[in-house]
Parts: sequence; C-alpha cells; structure tokens
Amino acid sequence: MSRSQIQIFDTTLRDGEQVPGCKLNTSQKLIIAERLENLGVDVIEAGFPVSSPGDFESVSEIAKIIKSATVCGLTRAVENDIKVAAQALEYAKKPRIHTGIGTSDSHIKHKFNTSREDVLERAFQAVSYAKSFVEDVEFYAEDAGRTDNDYLARVCEAAIKAGATVLNIPDTTGYCLPSEYGAKIKYLKENVKGIEKAILSCHCHNDLGLATANSIEGVINGARQIECTINGIGERAGNTSLEEVVMILKQHPYLKLDTNIKSQELYGISRLVSDQMGIYTQPNKAIVGSNAFAHSSGIHQDGVIKNRETYEIIDPKDVGVTESAIVLTARSGRAALAYRAKNVGYNLTKLQLDEVYSIFLQFADRKKEVDDSDIHKIIESSKVYNEIISA
Ligand code: KIV
Ligand code: ZN
Repeated sequence: MSRSQIQIFDTTLRDGEQVPGCKLNTSQKLIIAERLENLGVDVIEAGFPVSSPGDFESVSEIAKIIKSATVCGLTRAVENDIKVAAQALEYAKKPRIHTGIGTSDSHIKHKFNTSREDVLERAFQAVSYAKSFVEDVEFYAEDAGRTDNDYLARVCEAAIKAGATVLNIPDTTGYCLPSEYGAKIKYLKENVKGIEKAILSCHCHNDLGLATANSIEGVINGARQIECTINGIGERAGNTSLEEVVMILKQHPYLKLDTNIKSQELYGISRLVSDQMGIYTQPNKAIVGSNAFAHSSGIHQDGVIKNRETYEIIDPKDVGVTESAIVLTARSGRAALAYRAKNVGYNLTKLQLDEVYSIFLQFADRKKEVDDSDIHKIIESSKVYNEIISA
C-alpha cells in the first residue's frame, strides 16, 4: 500500500474563533495566518465574509498575504453569501469557497421548514453558483453525522455534479461514535457516483470527546482531508485538535497517512493562539498542555531518567518542546532529586542524597512543587552542605 497525503484544513480563524469572547481583530488574524502557513497547513479557513465587515476585511487581507496555502471563505447556500466570499477572496493565489446546507431531517424540518428534495436542489444551486467564481469549491452537508446515509449520498452526488472538489461531512453536533463515522465515510466512498472527482473531508466536533477519534476513523476509511483547529478550540466543546491528528498520523506510520505539517512548530503556534485569544490551554491537553511531557511520580521519573521512552511515546523536541520535565513533588523519589540537583550543579553521593532527600520530603509536604531555588535552600540547610561543595 502506498502512502497517502492527508490535507490539513485549519479552521482556527473561523470555527475556532466562534469560542465566545475570543474574537480576534484583523492584525491578530494575520499573525496567526502567517504562522499557520509556516506550520504547513494546506488550507486556511480565514472566516465567514458575509457575517461582518471585520470578517470580510480579515479574509481579504489574509488572501493577499498567504503565498502557498489555499485560502477559504465560508458561506451558507445563499447567493449573496457566495458573491461576497468571492469578493473577499479576490486576491487569493488559491481561493476556495466553502458552501453548504444542513442535511439532517432535524435541520431540514426545524431550520428550513422544507423538504429533502428542496435542500438537495439548494445544495446543487449553491455549488454551481460558487463554481462561477472559483474552480475550488468545497461543499458541506451540515449535521451529516445525523443525516441518513442514503440521502447524504444523493446530496453528495448533486454537489459533485455541480462541480464540488471537496465534500465536507461534518459531525456538527459531535454525536457519532468512531465506528459510525468511519462507516459513513466508507459508505460514501462506495456509493456516491463520481466520488473519484472529489475528496471527502472530516469535520468533527468534540461534544462527546470523540472529535479526534472520529477524524482518524474518517481518514482510515478513505477521507483525505481533516478540518481542525489549534488547541481544538471551537464552538461548545470545540473541534478536532490539529496537533492531535497530526501527531497520531506521525506516531503510527503503518497507517501510511502523511501530512505536510512541520511538527516542531506545534508548541509555538499553540502558545500563540492561546495568547492571542486569551484562552488558557488545559495543563493535561494532549501534545501541547504544560503537563504533556512532565513526570511527577517517583516510579515514572526513575523510568524516564533511565530511558525517556519508558513513559513517553513522543520525543518532546518533535513538537517544539525543549525537554521532558521532571517535576519535584512529595511523590518524587531519590532519582528525580539527584537528577534535578545535578542540573543545578550538585553531584550527590548516595549518602549525601539520603540526607538531602529526608529534608526534601519535609519541604515537599509543605509546598506543592519544589523548584530550583528550593533545591539550593534544601542543600544549604543540610548537614552535608560543606562536604558537597568542597567535593
Ligand atoms: O460544524 C459544522 O457543520 C460547520 C460547517 C459550517 C462546516 O462548521
Ligand atoms: Zn464546525
């Protein structure tokens, strides 16, 4: 089996920015867009141009500065949205219009109060109209996760007939199980006439914590694009996290699925997005959380000091983190204390370590984390201090 390339479609600046209170201005978006291009994303979804003059301006300015990635603008299946998106994308080297409509029975009845046939026709018309402006048109079937597969296949066929180059299958409400989502992609691959003319895209939300797992099942079953955000930010519980899917594919090479992402840039861009949006990243967040490469229990610390791979499946340098952290707490053992003491300049013998360790434990019971300056204080207060410094 040859290796396949998975396109990374970043929607930090559109779906990600829908986090309440995290609105970015145009200059902040430009900074992030440049970093996304440097990271190696294939597509940048820059915004929803018709939604506000600010969004229009951001998409238009991003379109001007991005050199090699595709720049994409979101629309509803509404002519004016599509026309405005085309205007915002005028200067993009590679423009893409992302248009679509809700296809689940719930959306058809409650949002549109119409019929499946009408939605199918609107999907066809929207893609055809977008195609009159740009060659690259992505169609989304909103709430595809809860859309009946036969009907979804018919909608996809209509979008392909109208010229769609990408078919986005969003699990908008984050409802699907990985097995269901994977089976949906497989069903579409096998049952949509003309599917070879378009690629399938996964767009998964994280309401049940399954966005990453669903996206991976999607690409295992034939999708060739993943839509995701830095730090997994987005509406409600967020979107698929870019750093997670990228590192899963990298750490499981037998899947033979590659991306163009420079993984060493992941930690830096995670910090940038978190700072610009003023949104804190949880410490235990996979790949980029502050504890992702920190070890605090004595058994784990001893293992990692002997060989990093005992408790780490990723080399922190591969994601731009300089080194694993050995955190000193009351749970730490002698090996961790000796290691950290050595880093700040003390080479302790076994007997000296026994003495210093007993003081350390009393200290660590009073303080949550023991830092480098505490190590100096602990050693200075020990009765072996003179012996240690004169060695
Ligand atoms: O979650 C979703 O369905 C979306 C579409 C607008 C692509 O974000
Ligand atoms: Zn979404």
